[in-house]
Amino acid sequence: MASITASYPWTTTPLIAGAPMRLISGPSLAHAISAAGGIGFLAAGTDVSTLSENLSAFKSLLSASPIPGTSSDVLPVGVGFILWGADLKLSVQALSELQEPPAAVWLFAPSSSEELASWASGIRSATKNKSKIWVQVSCVADAIEAATVAEPDVFVIQGADAGGHGRYSSAGLISLVPELIDTVLSYNANRGNASSPKFIAAGGIADERGVNAILALGADGAALGTRFLAAEEAVIRKGYQDAVLKAIDGGNSTIRTDVYDKLRGTTGWPKDYGGRGVINLSYADAVSGVPFEENEKLYKLAEESGDQGWEAGSARMTTYAGTAVGLVKKVAKAGDIVKELRGEITVKRI
Ligand SMILES: Cc1cc2nc3c(=O)[nH]c(=O)nc-3n(C[C@H](O)[C@H](O)[C@H](O)COP(=O)(O)O)c2cc1C
Repeated sequence: MASITASYPWTTTPLIAGAPMRLISGPSLAHAISAAGGIGFLAAGTDVSTLSENLSAFKSLLSASPIPGTSSDVLPVGVGFILWGADLKLSVQALSELQEPPAAVWLFAPSSSEELASWASGIRSATKNKSKIWVQVSCVADAIEAATVAEPDVFVIQGADAGGHGRYSSAGLISLVPELIDTVLSYNANRGNASSPKFIAAGGIADERGVNAILALGADGAALGTRFLAAEEAVIRKGYQDAVLKAIDGGNSTIRTDVYDKLRGTTGWPKDYGGRGVINLSYADAVSGVPFEENEKLYKLAEESGDQGWEAGSARMTTYAGTAVGLVKKVAKAGDIVKELRGEITVKRI
């Protein structure tokens, strides 16, 4: 069976993907990850109005710094959409205008299986089947639903440790990856479906040891968000980045919750989803019964204070990050992070 890197000819084994992170994964980060032999994803998220602009900026970076091994059919980049909030018509329109569509389109958090089906078929026809369909799923049931209605080329298996949004009821990668792969493969075989999807693991992977672990579990590669929050090319406030560098012991210091969505007004997520972020005063006040209006007022003040809103001791601003925060110790170039993850750069740990 062909390895996953055969479908993305500029990439190197093991495949490292930079997850689409809304507002954070822009053209520079995506280009740097792809240029190092990974695959970077631009985050369209729930708002596709900047998609064409971001793709043009990516193309300009590509002309200035070409990536060897790129085919002329597709751009060496992916685009991630959050389905419950993004406009399918506008997205399809933007993608169908492209001579070279992105090599991969990442679909996440549909509000129904019909929505997922419409996106998968809409993207496939808009890109004349050139863009591979990646679907991020957080449990085995999601994967079977996706296999039935969308036949993903790639399943992104999102474990409980993942930063940002995911299902409350997901498991850790160590049990989720093998069960999900076995179940999807036998489901497809029983249906006489001869496709051979690939599997990428996401959630809590932050260094070469994590990558080796998910390869041992049967995954074809790794997708990371939290580690790339400390990339030089990430579009991120210094206060946010510093808070990620400072946080340790992610099982204790982060939580999956809807508190930050409510405070920021990013509501509308399907009911089973929450965002994992660093616990701070906003969360503590919400659970200790401070009225929402009061908490929201304090949040707005923190927002106005800029980077101070993340300052240790008085932090209130949202710091979406996964349980691997404790392994993120320094800011580095995204390309070096990719090489570290593949074991090509040795990192001194203690
Ligand atoms: C700050 C942040 C923003 C995220 N935004 C998105 C997003 O816009 N779309 C998406 O599909 N996933 C998003 N995710 C989740 C990632 O796709 C992925 O599941 C997660 O980052 C993997 O876990 P890790 O953070 O431990 O690497 C986000 C994650 C983080 C940390």
